[in-house]
Amino acid sequence: MDCYAVLGQPVAHSRSPRIHGLFAAQSGAALSYKAIEVAPEQLAHKLLELHAAGYLGFNLTLPHKAAAVVLCEELGERAERAGAVNTLIRTAAGWRGDNTDGIGLVRDLLHNLGVTIAGKRVLVLGAGGAARGILEPLLAQQPAELVISGRNPWKPEELAAAFKTLGLVRPCTHYALKGDRYDLILNATSAGHGGEVPRLPEELFAPGALAYDLNYGPAAEPFLRWARGQGAARCADGMGMLVEQAAESFLLWRGQRPDTAPVLAALRSS
Ligand code: ATR
Repeated sequence: MDCYAVLGQPVAHSRSPRIHGLFAAQSGAALSYKAIEVAPEQLAHKLLELHAAGYLGFNLTLPHKAAAVVLCEELGERAERAGAVNTLIRTAAGWRGDNTDGIGLVRDLLHNLGVTIAGKRVLVLGAGGAARGILEPLLAQQPAELVISGRNPWKPEELAAAFKTLGLVRPCTHYALKGDRYDLILNATSAGHGGEVPRLPEELFAPGALAYDLNYGPAAEPFLRWARGQGAARCADGMGMLVEQAAESFLLWRGQRPDTAPVLAALRSS
């Protein structure tokens, strides 16, 4: 049987086995997809061991995405730019690393939520790994403006410089956003995991704006609650992104893109 897995720590809570199980059922493929707990210091060894055991591919989740970059024999352009790997594809010699997080987000926005990014004012909150992973596909949509904002200017400036050959990213601090209006505000900070919301100025949402949290479940709630209170017309968590990035991984592994709508509906109803 074709074997895949998600590697992380902790990983027991991961929705990926369920998602890929539903994709497999759709395609009629008999495959196994497990969640395997791997500590950071074990990752290199585990990748060798699971290659020898015949595994065909992995998803990586916290805390392995950045560390895996140097463990891949080949690295796709998306993973290189993102500085992170969320998908490993078996090669004869080892693993090819790719990153489907950014394309997953953009597909969720365009196809599931019906949002246009082209010509819109887009704000990304946070300048860590999650933000880095989405800048390239966002720029490819040609927003009118792409602003990346942090508590201090250093990380946003660094990210804007790293992506300057792909398009204009304006670095900013949360404080200096005062007076701006955005059509789409994406929360790429990890503040929600501690039940917090970045400290932001009032009235950032333009009429009709969408607030989107890259996290899902309870970690997305603080930001989305704040956004509702600020008059955001629409709010979405990152469940759609999760399903879409999984579908892109499935496509890389098996050459077949699953139908994500019924899978997303099944996850939302449970
Ligand atoms: P990830 O790889 O998931 O993006 P990360 O690299 O730790 O995680 O980045 C987390 C981001 O969330 C950072 O941009 C951080 O902001 P700073 O750059 O200002 O440090 C942001 N963040 C974390 N906790 C936060 C909080 N309580 N309020 C605001 N921003 C927070």
